[in-house]
Amino acid sequence: MFTFEEFSGSTAILHDDPQGRRRPDRGQLQHIELLGRCEELTGLSLSVIDTDLGQFISGPCSHLARFHLGPLIQTLQKASVHVATERGLILYGLQIPGTPLIAGGVLVNDNALIPELEDQAAQNGFTQESFTSWVTRHSGIRPDVARRLLDSAQQIMAQHATGTESVQTRDAVVHQLGQIYEEVTLIQDLSQYLRPDVDPLILMEAVLERIELITGVELGAICLQHAGNKGTCLNGDWGMSASDLQRWLNQELGGRSPHILVRNNLRTEHNGGRLRCIAAVPLFVEDADPSWIVIANTKDRRELGTEEANLLRSVGSIIAAQIRVVELFREQDTMVLAFIRSLVASLDAKDSYTRGHSERVALVAERIARQMQLPEPEVRTIFQSGLLHDLGKIGVSDAVLQKSESLSPEEFHLIAKHPEVGHQILSELRNLSTLLPGVRHHHERFDGRGYPDQLAGKSIPRMARILAVADSFDAMGSNRPYRSGKPIEVVERILAEGAGKQWDPDVIQAYFDARLDIHRIWNQALERMNPPESTSRQTSVPSALVIAMPD
Ligand SMILES: [Fe+2]
Repeated sequence: MFTFEEFSGSTAILHDDPQGRRRPDRGQLQHIELLGRCEELTGLSLSVIDTDLGQFISGPCSHLARFHLGPLIQTLQKASVHVATERGLILYGLQIPGTPLIAGGVLVNDNALIPELEDQAAQNGFTQESFTSWVTRHSGIRPDVARRLLDSAQQIMAQHATGTESVQTRDAVVHQLGQIYEEVTLIQDLSQYLRPDVDPLILMEAVLERIELITGVELGAICLQHAGNKGTCLNGDWGMSASDLQRWLNQELGGRSPHILVRNNLRTEHNGGRLRCIAAVPLFVEDADPSWIVIANTKDRRELGTEEANLLRSVGSIIAAQIRVVELFREQDTMVLAFIRSLVASLDAKDSYTRGHSERVALVAERIARQMQLPEPEVRTIFQSGLLHDLGKIGVSDAVLQKSESLSPEEFHLIAKHPEVGHQILSELRNLSTLLPGVRHHHERFDGRGYPDQLAGKSIPRMARILAVADSFDAMGSNRPYRSGKPIEVVERILAEGAGKQWDPDVIQAYFDARLDIHRIWNQALERMNPPESTSRQTSVPSALVIAMPD
């Protein structure tokens, strides 16, 4: 049966055992039936507890965590609904008017950390499979949405208790629930954009399009003025510029900081009297000049109200969260890049001859990756891996690295170890683990005759196949102490002939498709990194890079 541990105080995981459940009496059955309708309307699962007896009488009650039902019951003696968040879960309940019954359940909080829940579930006897199934059935809601759904359910219960339930009030509740569902669906749809690599402006466009559709308005705008993220997205004919709109909204705000601004029956001269009604939510209210998400002018000329404002507030908080994620990600990216450059600088200091080689390889590889239309995060990773591809040379002694005579087989072997050494160094750094394939495999050959792992064809990581072309291009084209760089026509003939042998033909194709731009990028980098006067002063030492060359 359902077991309550210390029911009156701090209860208890509830074990579902339908055989042991107390049968509800006839009066309670009526309420349970009504709750069934509320469940259908709200989508919330509602288990019923008789607080006089301390027993479950209806509904599912297999929960991930132990809960303190005492406070929930106490709160529900004073308030009609209660929503509490605890350890990644939402515990919700509503009072059934005129009875000692409460109904409620548990959902996974929208922003819960799944590993944290997994621990709780394991402690309460859940298997991995039953945990996954539970989470799937109970996930994806925010506490404020849960509260609004409960309010609607409670409204139905209260009207039933007082006998005031009518078709109109029921329709109003159904309409209200429809709005909540649209909002929840919108938020779920938008979750695909909540990645650090998604530009907030793209999210803003998607948001506006959906909001206009749901609320049936003619005008929508998002004015973003937050730190490094500035931009506007103005849909429809506002009759004023984004900055005028923003100025007007700030004036309307008048130094106050409401979470929502709703104005109906507007008479504004700013846009030639075009604006009839408007709803706006400021984002980042702490900013002196807040950003805004705004809608205006309903197509059916009804007034804008709480429903629209709630919707704006929800999506506004999503946009703000996404922008913070992007900012955090950029900050982290900048730090990682600074760290990488300091590593590269230590390599350059060791081998002055190849100074700038890593940067040029990174730039050329980045351009090829863009030509191949790879996703932006991958392009960024390829660039960073290019910067570090020869890091393993840091483990090669200066005597070998700077030797001017030809290398002995042992010395060659030592230098050929640099991809593995680089891989070993970087594998200690968790943040840079995505760069490892490029570092380890940039000397593999498409025909399988490269090193260190003799990988062939597409089994060579794509990042490494791109770096191999960029590396060879720079090695062949740049000046060597014992010879000048090969003319570009010769370099390109070698690349073309090596397609399918040394290099991935798709990468070579991408190189040729972008060749003029690559020449420009490469020449600029060469001039920037090796100004003529410093080049002439360079001591002529052969680079270990010579082993990467096809000739
Ligand atoms: Fe290398």
